[in-house]
Amino acid sequence: MPDPVQTALDRLGTLGRISDDPSRLVRSFLSPASRVAAETVLGWMEAAGMATSHAPDGTIRGVLPGTRPDAAPLLLGSHLDTVIDAGKYDGALGIIGALAAIESLEAPLPFPVHLLGFSDEEGVRFHTTYLGSRSVTGPLDEATLAATDSSGRSLAEVIGEDGWHDGATDIHYEPGSTLGYVELHIEQGRVLEEAGEAACVVSAISGQARVTVTLDGLADHAGTTPMPLRRDALAGAAECILAAESAACAEPPLVVTVGHIAVHPDASNCIAGSARFSVDLRHPDDTRRRAGLRELEEKFAAIAAARGLGLGWTLVQDDDSAPCDPALSDRLLDALEAVTGTRRMMPSGAGHDAVALARIAPVAMLFLRCRGGLSHHPDEFATPEDIATGIRILTRFLTSTP
Ligand code: HGY
Ligand code: MN
Ligand code: MN
Repeated sequence: MPDPVQTALDRLGTLGRISDDPSRLVRSFLSPASRVAAETVLGWMEAAGMATSHAPDGTIRGVLPGTRPDAAPLLLGSHLDTVIDAGKYDGALGIIGALAAIESLEAPLPFPVHLLGFSDEEGVRFHTTYLGSRSVTGPLDEATLAATDSSGRSLAEVIGEDGWHDGATDIHYEPGSTLGYVELHIEQGRVLEEAGEAACVVSAISGQARVTVTLDGLADHAGTTPMPLRRDALAGAAECILAAESAACAEPPLVVTVGHIAVHPDASNCIAGSARFSVDLRHPDDTRRRAGLRELEEKFAAIAAARGLGLGWTLVQDDDSAPCDPALSDRLLDALEAVTGTRRMMPSGAGHDAVALARIAPVAMLFLRCRGGLSHHPDEFATPEDIATGIRILTRFLTSTP
């Protein structure tokens, strides 16, 4: 019988090489590499004796039957997609680690286990997150379906035209229909490394908002337009971005990030006529997150007015903080303590699919230490020993669930 931990490490390596770009790891919503990754994981699930299926949006599922087939299932999983130039653990670890825990079981469980690989959590293509996990917990709202990618195609069009329809089934869960959802994920921070601990349980997942901002000025000649006559959208965006940074620095733990910007006409000798950039704003306190959004929009409006620019502000996503379920988390803490002797809990500044699943099920999360806390970076790393510990904790949790 192959060692489930070594198999998991090999599989993480395999998934880490399935990319839409030969020079870096990136898998986005319904991309060719996402399909290959999904089919690869489905093959591993089938080899583990699970009944498999996929949804039109690329979310996959493996079902391990229990001795009481009518019992409510326990859901495990994470996301198959990645950010751009990603590490190989964010998302994949939660699926591969859970599969290894399932393969480590020495006897059937009393309840079914559903292992889910969500199609899109990062939101790289449509800038909206949790597309896969939101789709299994309820229909996507009209605004999300109308979101467009960089080519101007809407999410609804992309699912309709490029969806994985052949052999697809609907993967859906009603509120109260499961034992809960448990997700294994790297911490993506430094707390565990500084504490010298391999793992901990998550207390709550921070709320997050995403906005698409547009500034419209006037494209013009870089050589003949005097500075006072300019309506430079890129200079305006720069002032907005620095204002956002200083607002966040003045009010920790508020964090604001502008990770994407596009300008038109995007030429070195042309004054930018328009700029479109992303704003990612997070705060563990929902009231402060909403106030932070309002305050930022007011700051941007004042900057735009002073520069003669038109401002567009589209709230693309706005999720409240999601508390993890105390009872489910307590059982996960028991498994953590049985394996490591520690019992740490901490909040997650990163978003996770558990936020979407929390709408229909109690959720709990297990964090694993990652080197330097680095994530959303190709050097993201978790040690084989910590991964083995995470698998042992998950296995212990499964066998101790009544
Ligand atoms: O952005 C996040 O927090 C997560 O990685 N999607
Ligand atoms: Mn993730
Ligand atoms: Mn991520």
